[in-house]
Amino acid sequence: LSFKQQITLFLACIFGGLYFLGVFRQRRPGEPPLDKGWIPWLGHILEFRRDTAKFIQRMRQKHGDIFTVQLGGVYVTFLQDHLSFKQFIKESRENIYFTTFSKMILRVFGYESAFNYTSINQEIYRQHLTGHRMHMMTESIVRNLQKLMLHNLGSAAKQKTWTEGELFNYCCNIVFRAGYLTLFGNASSKTEGDEEKANTKDRIESEALLHEFHKYDQLFPDLVYGVLPPSGRKEAFRLKSHFWDALSMKKIKSKDNISGWIWDMYNVRRQRGMSESMLNRLMFVLLFASQSNTRPVSFWLLLYLMKDPIAMEALKKEVDMVLKESGQEVQPGGPPVNVTYEMLMKTPVLDSAVEETLRLVAAPILTRSVLQDMTLKMADGREFFIRKGDRMSVFPYVAIHVDPEIHPDPYTFKYDRFLTPEGTKKTDFYQGGKKVEYYSMPWGYGVSKCPGRFFAINEIKLFVFLMFVYFDFELINSGEKIPQINLTRWGLGAMQPDTDVKFHYRLRH
Ligand code: HEM
Repeated sequence: LSFKQQITLFLACIFGGLYFLGVFRQRRPGEPPLDKGWIPWLGHILEFRRDTAKFIQRMRQKHGDIFTVQLGGVYVTFLQDHLSFKQFIKESRENIYFTTFSKMILRVFGYESAFNYTSINQEIYRQHLTGHRMHMMTESIVRNLQKLMLHNLGSAAKQKTWTEGELFNYCCNIVFRAGYLTLFGNASSKTEGDEEKANTKDRIESEALLHEFHKYDQLFPDLVYGVLPPSGRKEAFRLKSHFWDALSMKKIKSKDNISGWIWDMYNVRRQRGMSESMLNRLMFVLLFASQSNTRPVSFWLLLYLMKDPIAMEALKKEVDMVLKESGQEVQPGGPPVNVTYEMLMKTPVLDSAVEETLRLVAAPILTRSVLQDMTLKMADGREFFIRKGDRMSVFPYVAIHVDPEIHPDPYTFKYDRFLTPEGTKKTDFYQGGKKVEYYSMPWGYGVSKCPGRFFAINEIKLFVFLMFVYFDFELINSGEKIPQINLTRWGLGAMQPDTDVKFHYRLRH
């Protein structure tokens, strides 16, 4: 190359690099405010990851309810005006699409499919995870919860002594394992010899699975953001391989009571020729999707209740009344109670407490890819030009959940926030005198709205219901402070505590 050519090549590389780093991107007329941050390419990613909610709140104060930020080479437009969510949700699939989620699933879980299963999945969710199916699933959840909650209480039961535990650990132990057994099936008493042996196998196996799940869950936030060091990536791969084996259909097939959801998700893919190894990966995706959020939500709910004697009393009263109306009472050493779906429909106070907990701790970021240049119309008539290749995100936690106008005193747990004075479900919330359509969005929205929400609510309610039915429970130190949330998990679903809290429980009857 001549000297002139070398110089040209060098300059081209420099400009290409700067272009890649996003240095030349400028806000064009009609676009939302652009905030690239001061670090080329990385932009605001460090502050974003340090405390996402705080960062979004800062950007909102600086730029208003729509702005574009640079996060690790990607330009993300955050829409924080909840009145405009409806327009966004209705936006055509040619313009924005949910592809970012499948990319994350591939990176984190190693699962991908050549065929688009969106509409098939929707049909399977409708058949197996919606309201009417919960009748049958309730029975199975109750059976599995009781097996775990009442196991090994024999001697304590006689003496009515307190059993000590750590609350998050306890909730994981019961809720994860009961959820897993309900969806993936129970050991068969035919294969194991008798029911006792099958129950023991379920307990041992689910405990071992939870142990590994917990390790993977710790790595999850860094895996999502692709910042795990090589040793962490190695450990994640080891754990994934463990789950692919433990959840393989080869092993699951021999169980009883496998849920229709798991069966159908497996079968439709197998019939279309998906390999067994990819199907094993899918099983782990389903385990993670179904078990990662119910544990922390159950933890926060029990903790908030134990910190609030009035709420505790109101719930106890409701549970006792529903149980009495069903003609049952707990007898010391007697048979387990039978909690039905109909009974769960008569618990408005518990419903409100669950919804309030979700408002406080469920903080997903809902992201779509922008597939072509588009114009976003806001509810107040403003229009913004959004570029192809960018992303659009909604963070309902900041936009809605902790907005003091919609939910006064937003960081305080109020068990009856979602109750009307008449004791029915409250759905009227206002901002600036206008009724708010989306007053809480723990489940996401649109095509990717959590299909497991009925199952999740059912499981959390049943767990708390049975806690009240069987146990007295309280914090060991009544002055215990509510732990800080672990800030690394913003945007990924339900928040987790950064420390556990000690509590104890004993049989009520
Ligand atoms: C408190 C518990 C739960 C919370 C807060 C929660 C939240 C969410 C959210 C926010 C999404 C949407 C993600 C997005 O749009 O980016 C989602 C998706 C999903 N959830 Fe849940 N979830 C919970 C429990 C469950 C349970 C129990 C199941 C299964 C029984 C489940 C199955 C799924 C599945 C399969 C998806 C992906 C849907 C798809 O795009 O096909 N979730 N969840």
